[in-house]
Amino acid sequence: MSVLVEIKNLKKVYRTGDITFEALKDVSLDIQAGDFVAIMGPSGSGKSTLLHLMGGLDRPSTGLVTVKGVILNKMNETALAKFRRAHIGFIFQFFNLIDNLTIQANIELPALLQNRQDRKATRHRATSLMERLGILDQAQKHPWELSGGQQQRVAIARALINTPTLLLADEPTGNLDSTSGREVLNILQEFNAQGQTILMVTHDAAAAANAKQVIFIHDGRLVEQMPGNNVQRIAQYMIALTET
Ligand SMILES: Nc1ncnc2c1ncn2[C@@H]1O[C@H](COP(=O)(O)OP(=O)(O)OP(=O)(O)O)[C@@H](O)[C@H]1O
Ligand SMILES: [Mg+2]
Repeated sequence: MSVLVEIKNLKKVYRTGDITFEALKDVSLDIQAGDFVAIMGPSGSGKSTLLHLMGGLDRPSTGLVTVKGVILNKMNETALAKFRRAHIGFIFQFFNLIDNLTIQANIELPALLQNRQDRKATRHRATSLMERLGILDQAQKHPWELSGGQQQRVAIARALINTPTLLLADEPTGNLDSTSGREVLNILQEFNAQGQTILMVTHDAAAAANAKQVIFIHDGRLVEQMPGNNVQRIAQYMIALTET
């Protein structure tokens, strides 16, 4: 395996008026290509902040984020947006689909926003993703006509349309019933088995146990890392963290 994401001495300070808050304090971490990593930690510990910095959605106060050998810090906004479209797929807790577009149009949108994208190739890839995700029969509907689980599968297809180097998911099962959540986790595992690198933030030990490894964050610091194969141990560590 080769290193895909390199994080060095990352700090993020938020300023609200006179008040500053250190959301991340000196986080260093390497993610290997092909890995499936779950990020866990109490509410407010800095999980989403870390994910946003990795995906170039926000900038660190100090420290480096390198994705595929490219240092994100040094890019201007235009270059960063272009890099995100080409290399990063995002899945959010609240799906964030566009209501007045059909399912198919939602999925195709990131590809059409990329220059030089071939419409026919895009349609072909969208169709094949919808087929794999079991939503092909929903293609001409609108987001509000779908269940939560179906909407999250649309969001996954949209995140994968540009074959991202890195798939980032922030609580992708947080708004789903357990059956739909299970389906989404199975889908992520399937794509990872085919080589997709995934980083997923979750509160749920059972969800984290689908990953190859689990990283724990507490108060803006990386405090523990363990394999994803022991749900009991993950749950116990999480309880201990929440109590401290
Ligand atoms: N834009 C912002 N301005 C000021 N403070 C912020 C901002 N975004 C996040 N924070 C603070 O930084 C800390 C980390 O936030 P973050 O969203 O990363 O936590 P989290 O671990 O994802 O929590 P949750 O599990 O509740 O989603 C929190 O204390 C939060 O209040
Ligand atoms: Mg969060």
